[in-house]
Amino acid sequence: MPRMKVTGVGMYVPDRVVTNNDLSKLMDTTDEWIVMRTGIKERRYVPDGMTGAEMAARATDIALKEAGIEKKQIEAIISATLSPDHTFPGMAPFIQDKLDLGGCAVMDIRNQCTGFLYSMAVADAWIRTGLFKTVLVTGSEIHSTALEFETRGRDVTVIFGDGAGVFICQATDDENTGVIATDLHGEGKYAKALWVEAEGQVFHPRLTHKMLWEGRAFPRMKGQLVFTHAIRRLPETMNACCAKAGVKIEDVDFWVFHQANLRINEFACQALSIPPNKTLNNIDKYGNTTAATLPIVTYEAQKKGLIKRGMLVGFATFGAGFTWGTMLMRW
Ligand code: ACO
Repeated sequence: MPRMKVTGVGMYVPDRVVTNNDLSKLMDTTDEWIVMRTGIKERRYVPDGMTGAEMAARATDIALKEAGIEKKQIEAIISATLSPDHTFPGMAPFIQDKLDLGGCAVMDIRNQCTGFLYSMAVADAWIRTGLFKTVLVTGSEIHSTALEFETRGRDVTVIFGDGAGVFICQATDDENTGVIATDLHGEGKYAKALWVEAEGQVFHPRLTHKMLWEGRAFPRMKGQLVFTHAIRRLPETMNACCAKAGVKIEDVDFWVFHQANLRINEFACQALSIPPNKTLNNIDKYGNTTAATLPIVTYEAQKKGLIKRGMLVGFATFGAGFTWGTMLMRW
């Protein structure tokens, strides 16, 4: 049975840097508060006219070069995003059109910060069953156009940034490389702990001026609840995935963590005795880019020589839903 190997990684972030001090001019917050609570110093925001599909396409150009393949070899596109360019159809068709790849399979996955991990799991299953040999997995998010730039929304607004990252996933017969184990979870009873309530098809009509005025169209989060679950669930799933793979935490050469809060990652590393040189945190530069985060961290870790071919690499993430999971692959 073929295995799924990542042959190319790409990322794109917009040029516009927004610092904590920039935000403190719009709402009651400070650089000190944001850095101390989250580790974030700045994030990127898209300029007018930039789309999520365009960012994904730019990241794909970089990944294709690393993979050394022609774009027309891509047989399927999976787009992970919580911020599609339009309500429907999903974002994958728009990415496909940008890449001029009409005809290949397209699918969207709506799993927030865990979206890229779930998408990789789907790509892995498609490749193992022989359905496709080359799958493009994209994570692309524009948060900046949907945040509340007022004190009421400050807890959420300061943590998110825009960006895109992609993996080119390909079939390999080499048993010493590719995905080894995956562990995925969700707990819908906490769906409303981190969500955007409106517009919603459950409402008649689905969006009103009153809802907008009440701020129900902005993301809302029970921050401490998310935090306490994240620091419990991450070590749990990392241990479970290692057990499935028949390896120990210390056997993993490098961990790619979602970047929601620096302190969450520090807690997870402390709980599992993972030394800092086995991870890379870039939340200080980009904030939380949700589904784009795992490939962005992977791209930068590869560039820095922290991830090398042959290494055992783990991907671990927790996010809205709640959803969480881990994947282990021989890079
Ligand atoms: N600036 C200044 N003060 C603030 C800010 C801000 N940006 N945000 C909140 N505060 C205030 C609050 O109003 C509160 O004030 P009060 O004590 O007077 O009521 C105080 O700071 C403490 O608020 P908390 O919400 O308890 O702060 P906390 O230490 O929990 O930090 C944070 C908030 C950073 C959001 C944290 O809870 C967190 O990181 N949670 C997890 C986020 C996460 O993992 N999300 C998942 C991924 S996202 C996804 O999947 C879409």
